[in-house]
Amino acid sequence: MAALARTAASTASNSSLEEVLGAMAAEIQLSPGIAGTQIMTFAPGGDRLQLMGSAGFSDVETFFDLLMASRDRGAELATLRSMGERRQCVLPGRRAQMLADPNWEPMHAYVSQLDWEDFVSTPLLSRGKALGALNVYLAPGPGATPVILDFLGAMAEQAALAVDYATLIHEERDAVRREERKRLARDLHDSVVQHVFSIGMQAKALGGIARRLTDPLAPRVDAVATEVTGLVDAVQRDLRGVVLALQPSVSAKLGLLPALHALAEGIERRHGVSVDLAVDPLLEEDVKEPAFTEDVYQIISEALHNAVKHAAPTLVRVSAWRETDRRRLRIDVVDDGLGVPTDAAERSGYGLVSMRDRASRWGGSVAVTAEKRGTRVRAELPVPYVGAEQRDKGTA
Ligand SMILES: Nc1ncnc2c1ncn2[C@@H]1O[C@H](COP(=O)(O)OP(=O)(O)OP(=O)(O)O)[C@@H](O)[C@H]1O
Ligand SMILES: [Mg+2]
Repeated sequence: MAALARTAASTASNSSLEEVLGAMAAEIQLSPGIAGTQIMTFAPGGDRLQLMGSAGFSDVETFFDLLMASRDRGAELATLRSMGERRQCVLPGRRAQMLADPNWEPMHAYVSQLDWEDFVSTPLLSRGKALGALNVYLAPGPGATPVILDFLGAMAEQAALAVDYATLIHEERDAVRREERKRLARDLHDSVVQHVFSIGMQAKALGGIARRLTDPLAPRVDAVATEVTGLVDAVQRDLRGVVLALQPSVSAKLGLLPALHALAEGIERRHGVSVDLAVDPLLEEDVKEPAFTEDVYQIISEALHNAVKHAAPTLVRVSAWRETDRRRLRIDVVDDGLGVPTDAAERSGYGLVSMRDRASRWGGSVAVTAEKRGTRVRAELPVPYVGAEQRDKGTA
C-alpha cells in the first residue's frame, strides 16, 4: 500500500510518464518474491509497444529486439494475450517453458539473468481498453498468490491512470501548440504582412512620382523605389511561406493521400512537369500520428520542389511504401533532371536540413544520390504506428 501511495503521488506531479512508470517498476520490484518487473505501454497515438519501466534486469536496451526476434520465430507472447483478453495472465513455470522452447532462443540469455519461475502479465486497462501491461517475473517460492495478484492488479490500475493522464496532457499540449501557431499566423498576417504590403504600395507610388519629375535626382529616386519594391516582393514571399507553415498542416486538413495528390497536381500545373505518385494506400489508415504524417508530407513536398526548382526535370517519380513488416517507411523522390551539383552541400539552403530534421525526429534518415540521369532523394523512417494486421500478429 505504501508503494501505491508513493506512485499515486508521483503520478500527480509533473514527471514524465517514463519517469513515473520507471519509479513504479522500481517500487513493485521491492515487494517480496518479485525478481523482475516490466511495464509496457503503447506509444501515444500509436499501437507500438514500448518498454517504459524495468527493474531487476540489467540490460534494458536489447530487451525489445530480443522479444521481437522471438516473436518472429513463432514464440507466443503472454503480454499480448493478457492485453487481448483484458485479464491477468498467470504462467506458472514460464521460465522453464521458455528455456525449453527453441522459438524463445533469442531471449534465453536475457531471461536467465534472473532467478525466477513464474510469470504474471497484468493488462493496464482504462475504459475497457488495454493501454499496456505490467509484467512480473516471480522468484521461486509461493508463486502467484492471491495477495500478489491483487497487488499487481492495483498497481496496474495505478499505471493505467498514469498513462491516461499523460495521454490527456499530450493531447492538451498539442491542441495548445496548434492554437498558438494559428494565432501567430493570424497576427503575422494581420500586422506584418499588411505593413509590408503598404510599404510596397508606397514605394511604387514614389517611383511613379519620381518618373514624372524633371529633377536630376529623379532617376536615382526611381531606381531606389524600384529596388524597395523588389525587396518588398521578396519579403512578402518569405512571409507568405512563414504564414503558410504556421497554418494547420495541409496533410492534417486533407489527409495525407489527398494532400499529396493536390501537391502533385499543383506542381504539374505550375511547372509543366509530370509527377508520378505511388503511395502505400494503407499508410494513412495505419499511421494515426499527425506529426509523422505531416513530416512525411513535408519531406516529399521539399524534395519535389527541389527537383522542379533546381533540376528542370520532365518527370518526377514519388513513391512511399513500407517494407514487408510495415515498420519502416521508404520515400523515394526521383527526378530525371540535371543532377545535383557537387557543391550542393555548401549551397544547401534550408530544404535539405529541414528534410533531415524531420526524418531524424523519428529516428530516420535522408540520402541524396545521383542517378544515371537526375537525382534520387530517399528518406527512411520507422513507422510510429503499426496497423491492425500487424497488431494481431503480435507486437509483444
Ligand atoms: N533534385 C535536385 N536536383 C538538382 N539539385 C538539387 C536537387 N535537390 C537539391 N539540389 C541542390 O541542393 C541544394 C540544396 O537544396 P536545399 O533544398 O537545401 O536548398 P534550396 O532549395 O536551394 O533552398 P531552400 O530549400 O532553402 O529554399 C540546392 O541549392 C540545389 O543546388
Ligand atoms: Mg529546397
